[in-house]
Amino acid sequence: MYSDWESLKKDCYNCHRCDLCNTRTNLVFGVGNENAEVLFVGEGPGANEDMQGKPFVGRSGQLLDKYLEYIDLYRDKNIYIANMVKCRPPENRDPSDKEMDCCIEWLREQTRLMRPKIIVCLGRISAQRLIGKDFKVTQQHGQFIEKGGILFMGTFHPAALLRNPNNKPLALDDFIALRDKIKETCVNTYEV
Ligand code: URA
Repeated sequence: MYSDWESLKKDCYNCHRCDLCNTRTNLVFGVGNENAEVLFVGEGPGANEDMQGKPFVGRSGQLLDKYLEYIDLYRDKNIYIANMVKCRPPENRDPSDKEMDCCIEWLREQTRLMRPKIIVCLGRISAQRLIGKDFKVTQQHGQFIEKGGILFMGTFHPAALLRNPNNKPLALDDFIALRDKIKETCVNTYEV
């Protein structure tokens, strides 16, 4: 267990727990406000993220930023963004269960330090791992589920919305529901 972000980051950046370390350019630890009440969790870095060492910096990241901005959330201000795995799976394949098993302790440590009130799962991979293994994004998106004192919500992955823009209005509804839930349960997010 870590008591500060600096030592957590230092150890994480040296991680060799799985084979993804052999092919990474940069480890993608996460970005945002380390005291945020709202944590977003994606799947894993893609090519752009691997190059820059930051999550969601490609096209899907630009779309994510638009949804965030719509409800007054900003990655450098009042939220934090991380992924299920911190290193890029080659060819943009899904991270394997084994890779997520190896990596999840880093996310747990981040969550312990941050103590978010709400965790938003971006897409099936993080929703099935963090909310429930049978989670179906198309059926359960936008629903808040309490687990261990944290509210979890799954929504569409921005890359999936780029592939299937028909779901964009549904995703927008999820973000509006998120804004309402933040106003109900978080004291600092819209005050900082
Ligand atoms: N997709 C993700 O799930 N995470 C990123 O950081 C970028 C794309």
